[in-house]
Formats: sequence, structure tokens, C-alpha cells
Amino acid sequence: MEIEQLLKLRHCVDLQQELKRDLLKKYRIAEGHAEELILEHLRKDTELLKLLSQKDNLKHIQRTRSYKNFRKRLSERTYYALRQYNQKQELQEQLLAKLIDMPSSTDSDVQEKLFHELAATHLSTKERLAYAEEFYQALEAELQSAKTILDVGCGLHPLMFPFQHFPNIGSFTALERDQTCSSILRQLERLKEETTSGLAGEKANVVFSFHQWQLNDAWQVLKGEHYDLAFLLKLVPVVARQDSDLLMILAEVPADRLVISGSLYSMTKQQRIDRRERKVISRFIKDAGREVLREIVIGEELIYIVA
Ligand SMILES: C[S@@+](CC[C@H](N)C(=O)[O-])C[C@H]1O[C@@H](n2cnc3c(N)ncnc32)[C@H](O)[C@@H]1O
Repeated sequence: MEIEQLLKLRHCVDLQQELKRDLLKKYRIAEGHAEELILEHLRKDTELLKLLSQKDNLKHIQRTRSYKNFRKRLSERTYYALRQYNQKQELQEQLLAKLIDMPSSTDSDVQEKLFHELAATHLSTKERLAYAEEFYQALEAELQSAKTILDVGCGLHPLMFPFQHFPNIGSFTALERDQTCSSILRQLERLKEETTSGLAGEKANVVFSFHQWQLNDAWQVLKGEHYDLAFLLKLVPVVARQDSDLLMILAEVPADRLVISGSLYSMTKQQRIDRRERKVISRFIKDAGREVLREIVIGEELIYIVA
């Protein structure tokens, strides 16, 4: 029997439903994503497929080693898939191709729609898009008084930043090490550059610059520039986890004010992590010799405004 036919049989559908329930209970995963992963891995598991074609008693199948091994591997692969910031690579590449072809004279609404579609392919910005208005409103005072902004480990955040609401911002500099994010942000740099120089027909104020950079490089890339405000969004806990020695460099970020954030929920599992994130961020602020001006929670993000 063809694999696709087999997978539509009653006992196979029931098995997929059970596996989906397991994944949804354990992980922070969308139903559609769980279904995709189950099918993707099931189609490749010849041993389990063979068993499913020979037997249709679900209880019996679930007691076999083949099933137990499959379930374990599926769980591991789901965890791995959820740990990737850029989870939708294929879509990301298609959208990037569109961005590369996009002339800077394109209507700003059309540009913004594509920027947001792209921002939704990176986990951190995808989450934040759901509460974006509230997020920037909460930071209104800091953003209104800043002329120069630095975004460290920016991911795709510049794509969702509402530049049009803050004409006071003269320059926005973004730093990120990830290759895909870099290719995307270079396009944003091109579009903004053509707009700033009037090539796009209308003139904008903000000079947006992007540098592919990693924290070990420290701050030379900024050529001694000092900023009014720096975003360190969902960065401090990541660096603390991956290479805590680098926090010393991060603490020297050349900016008067910092907006530091962390997550309320785990990126992968159904669990709150705010206590741990609070601890790591508070420690970082203290070690950097800085003080907390405000602490707020917006959507799923824990935010500290720091001087
Ligand atoms: C959780 S994501 C947050 C992205 C973005 N700041 C946001 O909140 O939308 C962390 C980002 O930091 C970047 N990053 C982590 N360690 C880094 C390092 N050592 N140097 C440069 N970037 C780093 C990652 O590539 C990733 O894009």
C-alpha cells in the first residue's frame, strides 16, 4: 500500500492524534507545526510504517519498541526544531527573494506587510508581533527622547520597529551574527538608504545601518560612537546560557539607556521561566553597574528600562 494511503487509515490517523496530543502537552508548538513534524518523521520511519501496514490494533502498536523509539525520536526532533530561531527557512528564503526584488519606491504599506511576514519567521519577533503596539507604547517616553539607537543581537527586530512613529530618531544601528538575518537586514539597509537619499521619491530621516557582528568582536565596529538607547532584547539570557564570559563585553555596550528583555515562557517547553530570566538579567544589570528605572511585562516579555 502507498504510504499516503496507509497514513489515512483509521488506526494511523488515531496514532497521529495521540502523538499530537503528547507534543502539545509537552511543548509550546502550534497544532499545524506538530502535525507537520509527525507526518514528516512518520513518512521516513520504514519500521513503524511496516508495522502499521500489518497491524491495526493501536494499543498493541503502542506497546512495540518501534513505536516507543519513534515517539522518543519525535520528541527530540521537536525540541530541536523549536530551539531554532528561524523555524521557517523555506518561507524565509521565498520572502527574502521578494525583498531583494522590491524597489524602494514600493508603497510603504506593501513594504511593511513584507517586513512583518519576514519578522514572523523569527521566533522572537513572531511572538512580539502579537503585542507590538502595546510594546512600543510602553517604551514611548524612552523612544521619543532618543536620537540614536543601537539594537544588539537584533534578530529581525528592525523589520517590525515602527520608524514612522518616531521621526526624532536620526540613526538606528543594528548588530547580529546570524547569516540569514544578515542577508535580510542588508536589504532593509538598502531600502532605507535609498529612501533617505531621496532615491525612492520621498525622503526619510533615519539612517539605518546594519553590521554582521558577534559579541566576541566587542564594539570596534561602532567606531567609538555612543548611543542614546540600546535594545538588548531577549539577548542577555541567551548569552548567559551560551557563553557567560561574553556578558562582560555586553555590559560595556556604549549607550546611556538600555532596554533589556527576557521571556516569560520557555521557547520549547510548556513552562514558565520568568524567575530564572529575572535572576540572570538582574545580575547582569548589577554587574554592569547600572540601575533599573522601570520593570514592566508586556505580552510574553519581561522588560527592564535601565540607566
Ligand atoms: C532570542 S534572539 C532575540 C532577537 C532579537 N533581539 C529580538 O528580541 O527580537 C537572540 C539573538 O541574539 C543573537 N546572538 C546570540 N548570541 C550572539 C553573539 N554572541 N553575538 C551576536 N549575536 C548573538 C542570535 O543570533 C539571535 O538572533
